[in-house]
Amino acid sequence: MGKMRTQSAPWRAAAVLASVLLVGGVAACGNSDTGGGSKDDGKITMGFSQVGAESGWRTANTTSIKESAAAAGIELKFDDAQQKQENQIKAIRNYIQQKVDVIAFSPVVESGWDTVLKEAKDAGIPVILTDRSVDSADKSLYKTFLGSDFVKEGRLAGEWLVEQKKTASGPVNIVELQGNTGAAPANDRKKGFGEAIAANPNLKIIASQPGDFTRAGGKQVMEQFLKANKQIDVLFAHNDDMGLGALEAITAAGKVPGKDITIITVDAVKDGMQALADGKFNFIAECSPLLGPQLMDLAKKVHAGEEVPARIETQETTFTTEQAKEALPNRKY
Ligand code: AHR
Repeated sequence: MGKMRTQSAPWRAAAVLASVLLVGGVAACGNSDTGGGSKDDGKITMGFSQVGAESGWRTANTTSIKESAAAAGIELKFDDAQQKQENQIKAIRNYIQQKVDVIAFSPVVESGWDTVLKEAKDAGIPVILTDRSVDSADKSLYKTFLGSDFVKEGRLAGEWLVEQKKTASGPVNIVELQGNTGAAPANDRKKGFGEAIAANPNLKIIASQPGDFTRAGGKQVMEQFLKANKQIDVLFAHNDDMGLGALEAITAAGKVPGKDITIITVDAVKDGMQALADGKFNFIAECSPLLGPQLMDLAKKVHAGEEVPARIETQETTFTTEQAKEALPNRKY
């Protein structure tokens, strides 16, 4: 008996430790601060799955969401998926298990969400898409999509270029740095830009590769473009960060960014705006990351069972060098 008693204490400690690890394990996925299960304290709990931390835009978006949740009194369970769809699916499943009140996420890619969205729907948990959308045919799988019109951003970038090059008598060689493959902003910005530049047959995309929305990706792919193509007149980067990475490659190749190569980007984060004000970039189509306040309002409405519009488009503008100089002192991100 005495022997059994001495063995049972460590066994019990191990069992307690195992159950603690098991409960902790439910929340563990990607880089998360998801905490435990949802409590019935009248407070709305939102499970949010973020794409990652790939760009200045994303960092500003995460800050906006965290600050707005705190200001709105919404308990936020946040998970950083590190640019992996499988991590987002795991996080969403964890939120379903934890019985959160609302799930919101920014899908890293457009396709492949139907199964997990159906699981959320079957569990009676409303889903809000923010920043990026999905290509699901069944629109009842989510309540609303809050975010930019990425096709329009690409089109505005292309229209500006068409105007700049309207007197060009020969070919204008364009290289394109795309966002991560399969992402809505990569697909849509490419489409909008391509449609706009079709207005002038002199404008030709001679190379187009993903740089994954990161500075490192932008730099590396731009180096390849410069090696493979003698004459590059224009760079269209799907975000500021890739454009900023490309600046390093262009300068290292002995060219002057903004002069030898016209540079057009999307986002208008502070570093991008600084490059535009300095004449290293030539034009930016804005994409606003400040989605937090609208997202929290929508979460409250959806939780209360109110109808919300199926699509809420973010209001945005464009910037030239002069406009960037004016806007920079008040730019918050
Ligand atoms: O989905 C928005 C895009 O994702 C931003 O343009 C880019 O910077 C980010 O990584």
